Order: sequence, then C-alpha cells, then structure tokens
Amino acid sequence: MNDLRSAFDAVTAAELHQSSRIKWTLYGPDVLPAWVADMDFPVAPAIRQAVQALVERNDLGYHAVPLSPELRETFVSRMAERFSWQVDPRSVWPLVNVVQGLDASILLHTKPGQGVIVQTPIYPPFLAAVEHSERRLVENPLVRGASRFEIDFDQLEASIDDDTRLFMLCNPHNPTGRAFERSELLQLGEIVLRHDLIVVSDEIHGDLVYAGHEHVPFASLSPELAERTITLTAATKAFNIAGLPIAFAVFGSQELKQPFRKLPPHVLGHGGILDDAATLAAWTDGQAWLDAVLSYLAENRQRVIAFFSERFPGVRLLPPDATYLAWLDFQELDLPGNPREFFLERGRVALSPGSDFGSQGERCARLNFATSKNILEAILERMAKALES
Ligand SMILES: Cc1ncc(COP(=O)(O)O)c(C=O)c1O
Repeated sequence: MNDLRSAFDAVTAAELHQSSRIKWTLYGPDVLPAWVADMDFPVAPAIRQAVQALVERNDLGYHAVPLSPELRETFVSRMAERFSWQVDPRSVWPLVNVVQGLDASILLHTKPGQGVIVQTPIYPPFLAAVEHSERRLVENPLVRGASRFEIDFDQLEASIDDDTRLFMLCNPHNPTGRAFERSELLQLGEIVLRHDLIVVSDEIHGDLVYAGHEHVPFASLSPELAERTITLTAATKAFNIAGLPIAFAVFGSQELKQPFRKLPPHVLGHGGILDDAATLAAWTDGQAWLDAVLSYLAENRQRVIAFFSERFPGVRLLPPDATYLAWLDFQELDLPGNPREFFLERGRVALSPGSDFGSQGERCARLNFATSKNILEAILERMAKALES
C-alpha cells in the first residue's frame, strides 16, 4: 500500500506531458489538465504483468471467443461479491466500451422521435446518443439540495408521455458524483414500472464509491426491474485502462438481448486479447491497487472540498459520493465568459466545460482530481490565482 502511495505521489507533470494520453496532449506543456476522466496514476502491477506476458509470448493473434469464459465468470462473481447482484452468465454481452452500449441500446430499443430520459447535467455522450439517433431528449434535471443533488420525482413523472420509452440512468452519476441510494432507486423504479420504461444503466463508476456510500446496481433492486434493465459497465474507469477497452452489457431479459443478437456479429465488435487480459488481471489481482487509489482519491476529494469552502466559498461544490470528479458551480461569482475559458486563459488549467453537460451547466465546470497531491496543489493554486486576478 505504501509503495503504491509513493508511486502515486511520484507522478510528475513533466513525465505525463511526454505520454500519449489525450488528457495531457490536447493542451500545451504550460497547461495542467483536469478534464477528461482519466487518472494520472501508474497502472496496477497485475495489469502491467498480464499485458507484458502476452506481448513477451508473442501471443497477439485471433482468440477463440469475444469474451473469455474466465472473464465472464470473474465478472459474474465480482458483481455478486461486491454488490450482491446475481448475474446470469448467459445474460452478459461483451462490448468495446460503455458508450457503444448507450448508442446501441437507444438505436435498437427506440424509434426516431421517441423520448429518452436523462438526468442533467450529464456525461456528454448521453446527450450525443440522443441527438445523433434523432430521439427526443426528455430532461429530468437533478436539483441542488443542501448537501447533495436530488432526483425531482414529480418533474420526472410529469415529463413522461406515451411515447417516452427509455430511461438512461448514470449511477454513480457523472458529473455530480451521486451514488443514488437504494430508496431513491426504488422510487425511480416505481415510475419506470408505472410507465413501462426500459432502463439503460451506466454503472462504470460503481467501483469508485467513498466510505459512507454504496453502489446499488439498478438491476439488483428486484426481478421486475432487472427484467427491463440493460446494465453497462467496465473495469476501465476504476482501473484506469481506457486504452484497453472492453465493456459488459447485462440484459435482464431475452427481449432486451434479442435485437443485439440479430445484428451481424461484427457490427458492434468487442475487445481484443490484451483488453480481456487487462480486465481479468484487474478483477483477480488488482484489488490492493484499487483500495490504494480509493484512499488516495478520498484525501484529494477532502482537499478539494476544503480548498473551495475555505478560500472561495462562493464556488458551490457538493461533495461527490463517488467518482473523482468535482462539479463546480461558479454562478455566484461574476466570472467573465465561461468558467472553462476563464481558468484556461487566466490559470492555464484545463477543466471540462460545464455547458457540455447540458444547458444548466453554463456557469459550471468539472474538475478531475485523480492526480498526485503535488499536481492537485498546483491546479488549485492556479485556480486561486485566476480567481484573485
Ligand atoms: C458515466 C460514464 N460512462 C461511460 C464513460 C466512458 O466509458 P467507455 O470508455 O467504456 O465508453 C465515462 C467516461 O468518463 C463515464 O464517465
């Protein structure tokens, strides 16, 4: 654990600027990036070894099945152990990544013009998936409460009409960091049942939940809800291996799976042997690394909360229950222009623009705090200078 922490501490901006990651290459060397949801920490030793072993054996040819039976079984046991969610191995479907699953689910389970519900502000590919498929965006904005964002159940119920077909849930939620409680999900479930909706639940942040909160898979709530749910998840977010993409769809019923089965097998594609091996290593031998990352992230989260509440109380930030993302609201400050431009120009810090997450994000920006303590301090100091300028 201490070795891992030292390795996280040792990460430097100079070294990261040399990498090929988009987070560090999109902007020049004078910018500190805190935008795309990638972490700056070295990968888990078990993953490095698994990938190296394949490369050293020249074992990079075609492999027999899109998802190794071992990985399928490991996924199923992991869901049971960590989240008390019993998954039928036959219901697991390999995908390249989670966003592919969002797009495919909309295309295969709704028709143009039909309503798709999303809880804004939201991870931008949710909005893009609705727009590109020419479905109708039905927004259920999350409401800023005293200590957390809340679901507006009345607004949700009122916004559903006969042609609203699908609810795209993001749990834990990006960018607000909410890990919805069982009671909230059950209330959502009642609405889903009442209006006969399909749920597509993106649970990619499910492993990144802080003490005092838990990840509850939507499909684990009840057999009735499981039956109408497509769950999408992957190890790539928590283990920081988005460059080795493989993701999982879990279909709660044959009806939900059928349209995917009918597609020509190569239309969607799937991960390759390195991706399979990396995720298998993450889930079988990566827990110590993940625990170390979570405790490091918990400290960074506290630091970010303390920084804004002590020095810039006008910046509104509700502590995330999960994720390494802080949704910063600058509404009360009279910043010239949008916050992302402001911090990029005056602080040389690259945040994710809030407007990408929906119209109510105009005065917001998302900060990624999954980096070394030194880099995080440098980011916060640059933001402070910008705000004080
Ligand atoms: C909620 C959410 N879903 C999906 C993704 C991307 O997943 P993938 O790379 O598997 O498409 C992200 C990445 O940040 C995310 O935050």
